[in-house]
Amino acid sequence: MPTYAVTGATGPFGHHAVEELLRRGTAPGDVVALVRNPARAADLAERGVVVREFDYDRPETLAPALAGVDALLLVSGSAIGQRERQHGAVIDAAVAAGVGRIAYTSVLRADSTDLPVAPEHVATERLLAASGIPTALLRNGWYTENYAGLLGQAEATGSIASATRGASVSPATRADLAAAAAAALLDETSAGRTYELGGPSFTLDELAAASSRVLGREVVHHEVTPEQLSEGLVAAGLDEGTAGFLVAVDVATAGGALQVDTADLQELLGRPATGLDKALRAARP
Ligand SMILES: NC(=O)c1ccc[n+]([C@@H]2O[C@H](COP(=O)([O-])OP(=O)(O)OC[C@H]3O[C@@H](n4cnc5c(N)ncnc54)[C@H](OP(=O)(O)O)[C@@H]3O)[C@@H](O)[C@H]2O)c1
Repeated sequence: MPTYAVTGATGPFGHHAVEELLRRGTAPGDVVALVRNPARAADLAERGVVVREFDYDRPETLAPALAGVDALLLVSGSAIGQRERQHGAVIDAAVAAGVGRIAYTSVLRADSTDLPVAPEHVATERLLAASGIPTALLRNGWYTENYAGLLGQAEATGSIASATRGASVSPATRADLAAAAAAALLDETSAGRTYELGGPSFTLDELAAASSRVLGREVVHHEVTPEQLSEGLVAAGLDEGTAGFLVAVDVATAGGALQVDTADLQELLGRPATGLDKALRAARP
């Protein structure tokens, strides 16, 4: 049987992906959880999953951990600014180890988007293409959980603010995107394909309405300018860099960067994506 490996398997996305490989009937011994700290993967090891140390910043750990791996899910790392180098090291190791296929978690329309996270994903997509390893590009939209993070503020104040100018967004739950990634990893025919992955579309007004239903109190959405949004975020205690990042995301969102209407997610999942109300209820703090 083929051997499947998942990076970042102690993170929420990677862990969900490993769970989905098992749920879909993959034998635990055919699944390799690649992790920075094996002690944090004890739950997976107890279930028979093979756990191997894999640190993007320690290249000597990479190729040995990929020995015998047929298909690799490279879950993009979290160290913004370091990821081209880190992902490049993983891709080099995959070539050296003879990995047959890769699936990579990129970002929606990576090559044409204004989203501030795109450059490292584009660079990684180029490295993957140059590697010669057949690759499925899983271009993920935003996690619904990013919006569910507004519920606390909505509950406390009855309002949410954005500079999205009425644009729709099409996020999906992290669990759905991870399940889709596992499905692509199991499917040889995913290699060479680019998936643009998102769930049901809604505007921030519609998010406020859904928040009202979930919280049982009225929530309204206020449209603000990017400058007002920045001032509000800094006043709420965010540092300038984080505030600037979030404002850039809203500006890109206003231009349609987080909206997608493909059926790619549903196709990989084999079922409709999780709806907004259900996702908000599950993520409610
Ligand atoms: N679409 C979105 O809305 C969205 C939002 C956030 C993030 N993302 C992207 O999706 C990825 C997965 O999401 P997530 O929720 O699981 O994020 P996360 O909690 O930040 O997980 C990141 C994973 O990367 C691993 N990692 C970081 N540095 C590493 C290194 N040097 N060597 C090996 N592994 C390393 C972490 O390992 P440890 O478990 O040891 O910490 C963790 O498992 C993120 O890394 C980010 O690229 C997307």
